[in-house]
Amino acid sequence: MATTHRHNGNRKPSFTIPGISDSDASKLIDLLQDRLNSLNDLALTLKHVHWNVVGPHFIAVHTMLDPQVDAVRLMVDETAERIATLGGSPAGTPGRLVAARSWDDYDVGRADALEHLAALDVVYAGIIEAHRAAISTTEEPDPVTQDMLIGQCRELEQAHWFVRAHLEDAVGSLSTEGAHTEQSAAERAGAMNSPAAHR
Ligand SMILES: [Fe+2]
Repeated sequence: MATTHRHNGNRKPSFTIPGISDSDASKLIDLLQDRLNSLNDLALTLKHVHWNVVGPHFIAVHTMLDPQVDAVRLMVDETAERIATLGGSPAGTPGRLVAARSWDDYDVGRADALEHLAALDVVYAGIIEAHRAAISTTEEPDPVTQDMLIGQCRELEQAHWFVRAHLEDAVGSLSTEGAHTEQSAAERAGAMNSPAAHR
């Protein structure tokens, strides 16, 4: 069967959860594969930042990120197993992730903590927006999948706040306001921290 030779998507289910139609299951599997790719990407990106952050705030950011990695890895496992429970085949290899994703690789290397935090602000904003869209889409076909995504989103939003609290000033403004890419956010945060910005 042609469907068994699909390498860039998941095999269509031959069985699924009772009460869910095959066509809804297929849609849910595709949607969850996209969330799985985002979460796997996020877990790797958070470790990349953990290793590459430098400067006076090194230890605060370095140690803040490991619990976030642990939380995201649990979300990865839960999401992949939901795909399998629905009768799909979760794709968990790096090649499949990169081939399927619609976003660019995280593009900040060794850099100051505030630059990484600014870039992570953009990363978290993207995944939370996509998770919230998935929460809306799953409302009708599968409230159980939706419940899983809501729980994940709650944790992602709290982690996003941890990141943003470093970028916030006493009146509540974010140094990354208006930035839509990791690089432009990192540049804004870098500028905030430069000697010129403190004159
Ligand atoms: Fe470490």
